[in-house]
Amino acid sequence: MRNYRIYAGVFCFALLLGVSALRTFGTPQNQKPSVKPQKPPYITREEHDPDGIGVFYMGREIAQVMGHQAADWLDRPEREAEEAPSLLIRALKLKPGMAVADIGAGSGYLSFPMAKLVAPSGKVYAVEIQQEMLDIIAQRGKEKKISNVVSVLGTISDPKLEKNSIDLIIMVDVYHEFDHPWEMTTAMVRSLKPGGRLVFVEYRREDPNVPIKLVHKMSVEQVRKEMSIHPLKWVKTLTLLPRQHIIIFEKPAATN
Ligand SMILES: C[S@@+](CC[C@H](N)C(=O)[O-])C[C@H]1O[C@@H](n2cnc3c(N)ncnc32)[C@H](O)[C@@H]1O
Repeated sequence: MRNYRIYAGVFCFALLLGVSALRTFGTPQNQKPSVKPQKPPYITREEHDPDGIGVFYMGREIAQVMGHQAADWLDRPEREAEEAPSLLIRALKLKPGMAVADIGAGSGYLSFPMAKLVAPSGKVYAVEIQQEMLDIIAQRGKEKKISNVVSVLGTISDPKLEKNSIDLIIMVDVYHEFDHPWEMTTAMVRSLKPGGRLVFVEYRREDPNVPIKLVHKMSVEQVRKEMSIHPLKWVKTLTLLPRQHIIIFEKPAATN
């Protein structure tokens, strides 16, 4: 009887240890979380980077949104030499018929070459919060005679995409500007088809030689940390571009 009590006590202690370890270390990234992800807090600080908005999320300051007045910078002729966007597009392995969402599409610099690859039946949804950027895209679509780029006016917390409708979401130099990264990611995951990919292209924060303002750069560690609380599986990180990393996640087949 006494032995039985000791065994029961040891068992309860081990059970308690296990539960508290799970709470402390969370769910490994490649497993489906068993609980609904909790939204981390947005913390406002008086002292902050002049290029940030003074709001911090999971240890990172959110950057100011790039205004439409700087659209010319996105289209600069030297961009191919500096960032190799054609290499990026090739790495995405787009196929005719795919539904692609270019979130934070800007002037459509990447939307139009991607639209050619998914044509004739596929579409690129160019999502923006600045109507002025969508006006540039509409004008460019007419000039280029490309009709499968669909403009979508999103909000700072909702890309306004249909549930389970998108094969690939790409954000090139965008995610770090999201005012509401948790809400945007939750909505993006919802809009992906099971097996769909979520692709981050961010300037490498790990590399001091990348000539971009600090809050507009993100490390692989930070991106993976922020995605670890969403029902996503990390697939791979590519370092083939001169200044940015390409970080690819997938929506597991069993999620909605
Ligand atoms: C630096 S630009 C990048 C444009 C484009 N991806 C490119 O590489 O040419 C970032 C864009 O993201 C947009 N943006 C910021 N937050 C957004 C959000 N929550 N939803 C959609 N677009 C957003 C901004 O309006 C801006 O045009």
